[in-house]
Amino acid sequence: MKITKICCIGAGYVGGPTMAVIAQKCPHIQVTVVDLNEERIAAWNDENVDNIPIYEPGLSEVVAVARGRNLFFSTDVEKAIDEAQIIFISVNTPTKTYGKGKGMAADLKYIELCARQIARISKDNKIVVEKSTLPVRTAEAIKSILDNTGNGVQFQILSNPEFLAEGTAVQDLLNPDRILIGGDPSDDGQKAIQALVDVYSNWVAADKIVTTNVWSSELSKLTANAFLAQRISSINAMSELCEKTGADVNEVARAIGMDSRIGSKFLKASVGFGGSCFQKDILNLVYIAKSYGLNEVADYWEQVIILNDHQKRRFSNNIVQTLYNTVSDKKITFLGWAFKKDTNDTRESAAIYVADDLINENAKIAVYDPKVSRKKVLADLDYLDTRAASKNETSILSFESPYEACAGAHAIAILTEWNEFVQYDWQKIYDSMQKPAFVFDGRNILDGPTLEAIGFVYQSIGS
Ligand code: UDX
Ligand code: UDX
Repeated sequence: MKITKICCIGAGYVGGPTMAVIAQKCPHIQVTVVDLNEERIAAWNDENVDNIPIYEPGLSEVVAVARGRNLFFSTDVEKAIDEAQIIFISVNTPTKTYGKGKGMAADLKYIELCARQIARISKDNKIVVEKSTLPVRTAEAIKSILDNTGNGVQFQILSNPEFLAEGTAVQDLLNPDRILIGGDPSDDGQKAIQALVDVYSNWVAADKIVTTNVWSSELSKLTANAFLAQRISSINAMSELCEKTGADVNEVARAIGMDSRIGSKFLKASVGFGGSCFQKDILNLVYIAKSYGLNEVADYWEQVIILNDHQKRRFSNNIVQTLYNTVSDKKITFLGWAFKKDTNDTRESAAIYVADDLINENAKIAVYDPKVSRKKVLADLDYLDTRAASKNETSILSFESPYEACAGAHAIAILTEWNEFVQYDWQKIYDSMQKPAFVFDGRNILDGPTLEAIGFVYQSIGS
């Protein structure tokens, strides 16, 4: 089948960049991204490409090239589904906040809604691609809905998980380590796989495209994220031990990373991992393991999350302890709120939890993040639902400039590794702060000796 029309449901951090790159690399394919959220679509269509809703280095340039040529953003979901030969589902799958599996299982209600909508609208055979990370065997549920509520048309379900990391999405999409496509072993399934392989072959080498059965593909995504998160929890576990023993976790990471069996990536000790995927996917894995009665497997992976929660709490406890056991009415400046640099995404960011702890201690928190607004910071805290929104409102101070944010502060906490933080005039910041002036570097990005020479009391993770 020659593919000329693709649609993607969900114009988020995954759907948006992925479709933009497909459109850029396949000018002969019309790519339409649809979303229920009108505001989000309007932002994708903003005349000024710098106003697109997702910040990713290089993304606005890709959108500028393809938008209006073969890349379209729309709220007309029905039309896009009707016309497309391949439909990507890239809606969010948050952890359930109610009922069975609350706090662990993935909430698949949006996925199901999409499947029902596709079934209702489709008049010809279609390939439906799971792009969202889903628990193993979700494809089966999608297939059952499509086959039983549809108009008798044939659907092929593929799993094609996304491995891009936010902040490097465009580069990851242009030069992926691999593309994974899972499909049915039947002839029709293999034809569907081939149709999607042909799309990616426009820019990805054949040996980087891996095809599997659907379940392997779904489980590989959860496994990849679990392994990555596990590395961070492993190094973070060692960071606490380093602090007690006089070892330096950065030195330990460098030393073990040179072992080619271990490798040097993803060994950066931090205040804890965040983002929309790691915690959600591991909880999901744990839930799946438990549902098969595999309690030891579940406990093994759950420990990665437990350690991560501990790391965040340890960071906030240390701030309180170091500031003479009280932060009440003290100004503490957060540099960074996003879950990592080069993104405006704040989902599950460690900053949210550290702030939550410090607000419980009546601290005033001045937040400066180059890409995150005060409105978003408050929404993140309100979402935790630990206290009245009015208390969050009076506890969070926001500033346009980092220097203003730091002036008069008792301490600075680095929560995101934005490059610009390293470039700041730290002498100027020191001069404007209360003394002693503390820096708690939750990302180990600043140079301790330089700050100490200025007069700061500097603490990093794991030394
Ligand atoms: C990602 C991945 O797709 C998913 O694998 C992972 O599990 C969570 O994060 P992401 O693109 O980051 O999703 O999510 P988000 O930015 O929230 O985008 C999802 C979009 O889907 C939203 O814009 C939402 O409005 C839209 N949506 C959701 C629909 O259009 N229809 C729905 O029924 C539900
Ligand atoms: C992750 C996976 O990397 C990606 O392949 C998958 O598709 C989605 O989930 P993402 O969540 O965007 O991507 O970011 P990632 O770079 O993995 O970082 C996740 C969190 O771990 C961030 O909070 C980051 O700061 C933290 N981290 C990462 C560390 O604390 N130390 C490290 O060494 C690496």
